[in-house]
Amino acid sequence: MDTTTGNVERILAGFDEAWAPRVVARVNDWAVKIARLRGDYVWHAHEDTDEMFLVREGRLDIALRDGTGTRTVHLGRDDVYVVPRGVEHRPSAPDGAIVYLIEPAGTLSTGDYADEVPAHITSTTGVPVAGDAST
Ligand code: NI
Repeated sequence: MDTTTGNVERILAGFDEAWAPRVVARVNDWAVKIARLRGDYVWHAHEDTDEMFLVREGRLDIALRDGTGTRTVHLGRDDVYVVPRGVEHRPSAPDGAIVYLIEPAGTLSTGDYADEVPAHITSTTGVPVAGDAST
């Protein structure tokens, strides 16, 4: 899919599922995605890439764990956080949030998560936007 132009408000109007990011644009080998988040995601890591979160609306908590323990970063509107490659993380949005994800195209949302994916989330590299003007 060639996503070189689009409108985020229109993309958001086209879906309501949580944890099912839509691809807003491709930039070289990277993808800008937008996702609705509600509740807890699953613990996972991306061994080969960092992952950037940019909050558009609401609040996002990202729990992080490594050899030294677990901590949580709290993000609000316009806050940016980059999860380094290899670091286990679990995004949560108890009250709901809308968040941009910037990561290499083809990055699987569940990373290395190997258990059965809970019904409320989708393991995806990004859902194409139906009817996007650029397609
Ligand atoms: Ni991730």
